[in-house]
Amino acid sequence: MTGNKKGQNIEAYLLEKYAQGQISQTVCDAITALCDAAKKIAELAAQNGIGTASLGALTGAENTDGDEQKALDVMADELICAALAPTGIAAYLSEERDDAVVFAHTKERLVVASDPLDGSSNIDTNLTIGTIFSIYKAEGEGWLMQGRAQQAAGFFAYGPQTLLLLTTGQGVAGFCLDANGQFIQMDWQPHIPATTSEFAINAANSRYWPAKTKNYITQLLTGKEGPRGRNFNMRWNGSLVADAFRIFRRGGIFLYPQDSRKGYEDGRLRLVYEANPIALLIEQAGGRASDGTKAILDIVPTGYHMRVPFIFGSADEVDSYHSQQ
Ligand code: F6P
Ligand code: MN
Repeated sequence: MTGNKKGQNIEAYLLEKYAQGQISQTVCDAITALCDAAKKIAELAAQNGIGTASLGALTGAENTDGDEQKALDVMADELICAALAPTGIAAYLSEERDDAVVFAHTKERLVVASDPLDGSSNIDTNLTIGTIFSIYKAEGEGWLMQGRAQQAAGFFAYGPQTLLLLTTGQGVAGFCLDANGQFIQMDWQPHIPATTSEFAINAANSRYWPAKTKNYITQLLTGKEGPRGRNFNMRWNGSLVADAFRIFRRGGIFLYPQDSRKGYEDGRLRLVYEANPIALLIEQAGGRASDGTKAILDIVPTGYHMRVPFIFGSADEVDSYHSQQ
C-alpha cells in the first residue's frame, strides 16, 4: 500500500517512492513536471473568460480522432510538452498530436502518454475537467505497451478543488492543490467499494447499445421491482475525470460501451492515454476495469489513438455486466 504520511507534499511523496526503489529519478521528474503544467492549466481554467476569449472556443482544427480542438486543449498540450521536454523522458504521446514527440533516445525509453484536457465540452460550463497521464517504459520497436507495463499513472481534476490521483503501482494516493501552490497528500485513502447502487452512462445513446449493455441497464432501471431488488441512481458528467473521481470517492460503475454509430464500433474512449491510466488507478484502488470481456490493462495497443469500450468501477457491478448475455 501507499506510505501514508498524509499532509506531505508531492515532492516528499515522490522522494519516498524513489528511495523505496518504486520509481526512477526520471519518473519522479516527469510527475513533477506534470504537476507544474497542471498548476498552470488549473489557473487558466479558473480565469477563463476574464480578459480573454473563451478557452472553450473552437480552434477550427480537429485532433486525429476527429474531436474538434478547443483553445484550452491546445494550450494544455503545449504546456505539458514544454514541461516534459527537459525531464529526460524519451517520448510524449498526446491526444492532440498525430505522432509521438521524441525528445531523446535514452536507454530508459520512458514514455508519457496524456490526454492534456479531458472533458473539453465542459470548459465553458464551470464543471470539472482534467489531465490524464500514463508513464511507462517502451520495449522493442515503437512507443506502445500494454497497460500492465505502466510504472505510474494518474489524473488531475480541475474542479472546486484541483486534485491529483496518483499511483506508482502500489495503491493510490490523493493530493489537493493548496493555497500556496503545493500538491498536499489528502487525509483519505482511495478505495473503491465492491458494491454500489450508482451508475454512469450516456443514456442518449441507448438505442445504439449492444444487447449486453441494454440488458444490464434495463436491470438497473427496473430497480426494486426488477431482478436486482434495489434501486439505482444515475450520474453523467461528460468528463471522464469527474465521473472517475466520484467512483474513487464512493464507488459506482462507469460505462462507455461500443455502439452501432459509425466510428463508435470500439466505443469513445482512447486506450493509451484515457483507459489505461484510469484502469491502473482503478485496479490499485480495488476496482475493476474492462472492455466488457477482459481487463483493459491486458489489451495490446495497435495505435496511439485506438479506442476501446470502457467499463470500470465497483468490482461486483463490473462482474455483473460481464455476466450479461
Ligand atoms: O475524452 C472524451 C470524453 O469527453 C470523456 O471525458 C467523457 O467521459 C466522454 O468523452 C463523454 O462522451 P459523450 O459526449 O459521448 O457523452
Ligand atoms: Mn478525454
